[in-house]
Amino acid sequence: MTDSLTVRDNRTGAEYELPITDGTIRAADLGQIKADDDSPGLAAYDPGFVNTASCRSAVTYIDGEAGILEYRGYPIEQLAEHSNFLEVAYLLIHGELPTQEQYQAWEHDITYHTFVHENVKSFMQGFRYDAHPMGMLMASVGALSTFYPESRTISDAENRRMQIVRMIAKMPTLGAWSFRHAQGKPYVYPDNDLSYTENFLSMLFKMSEYKYEPDPRIAKALDTLFILHADHEQNCSANAVRSVGSSQVDPYSAVASGVGALFGPLHGGANESVLRMLRRIGSTENIPSFIEGVKNGNERLMGFGHRVYKNYDPRAKIIKKAADDVFEVTGVTNPLLDIAKELEKIALEDEYFIQRKLYPNVDFYSGLIYEALQFPPEMFTVLFAIGRTPGWLAQWEELVQDKEQKIARPKQIYTGDRGLEFVPASKRWA
Ligand code: SDX
Repeated sequence: MTDSLTVRDNRTGAEYELPITDGTIRAADLGQIKADDDSPGLAAYDPGFVNTASCRSAVTYIDGEAGILEYRGYPIEQLAEHSNFLEVAYLLIHGELPTQEQYQAWEHDITYHTFVHENVKSFMQGFRYDAHPMGMLMASVGALSTFYPESRTISDAENRRMQIVRMIAKMPTLGAWSFRHAQGKPYVYPDNDLSYTENFLSMLFKMSEYKYEPDPRIAKALDTLFILHADHEQNCSANAVRSVGSSQVDPYSAVASGVGALFGPLHGGANESVLRMLRRIGSTENIPSFIEGVKNGNERLMGFGHRVYKNYDPRAKIIKKAADDVFEVTGVTNPLLDIAKELEKIALEDEYFIQRKLYPNVDFYSGLIYEALQFPPEMFTVLFAIGRTPGWLAQWEELVQDKEQKIARPKQIYTGDRGLEFVPASKRWA
């Protein structure tokens, strides 16, 4: 027995040996299989890359059947319980946990890069009063590339590290200012005396008090949520960052494309959609008719289902528990939580969802916590983006260093017309 496929082309009778490595065959090896010498070789057709590996990566491991998620080999449950977001960000970017000295330098660098150029504030104030914060975040992250033109020299490792520190440091500032803009409130500058997540809360919620005093339990809950969102291997937005980054553009432009992908309701935008769905359902009595709507295709159970997890998303378990802790702190008994729990219970017993292996994903409960923390739904995906930034950057850093990577340029199956004779408008319209 060998690690290979023997493929017989029934058009010609020819046989080919295709090596199997790491559970894959190289799509390029299909190119040798031709109907005749003048025909192009075979290619793989895979809409949405459902069964295509685009890269080799050591950042995040997921076992969808077993519901396992590990960052650089560490189980998410342990990191969520015992680590903090900046340490997890260091782990994702550098591939190992920091020494005390490395952590202190990392925390110092990030703390002292939270400010953005005053011009950023000027153009953010140019958005409409009701601009969606994700649209503002996507635009402002991309705009940072114009303030750091040296970031286009991506071959320089120290330069890349500087941009990585800047982006992790400034994402909360941009996210908080998008929130304050939407609320018509003055922008709050970073407070370097506070921790990463406390500072974010200060920029979000500080009003006339001299110094904002964040509730440490809220800061901890948010920090844990950031850890749970930090990376998730080749999801839609990571793929966007890698695809855009493969043209060797600066990292701000690449991450801005990730923010755009995350905005979609099938991806990070689902947390906002879940809350709107729960509000629309309104009460547990309406759940059976909603479920019927899902089955006949008129509804989608947002926050359920996953391309990889065919079991309970391990992050959803942790978030569901964190929800109870946060509600204890905020004293908010959210009626929507009862609807969510009843909806989950019914769905997990229903053949439609069981057959399709649909379970709650990371977005099903996170919105309920964000709402309890006084965030409006349009801010939920901004919170997801802040948490995901180290993951995007770890994927980008790996792409830049991967000698096997090339500019992303897939093939297509052409279905249009061929060789038409052009008739000028003057004749066509005569
Ligand atoms: C995230 O990839 C990642 O890792 C993403 C993420 C990350 O951390 O980066 O985990 C974050 O994006 C989580 C997913 C958040 N999205 C949602 O909650 C939106 C609702 N879920 C889906 O739309 C869907 O489940 C996806 C997009 C998440 C996955 O879609 P797939 O893998 O393309 O699966 P599919 O759409 O082909 O669905 C398979 C079947 C279909 O039924 P049939 O056509 O076979 O009859 O399951 C059905 C779908 O209709 N289905 C659902 C459903 N999700 C899938 N039916 C009802 N409700 C749902 N939520």
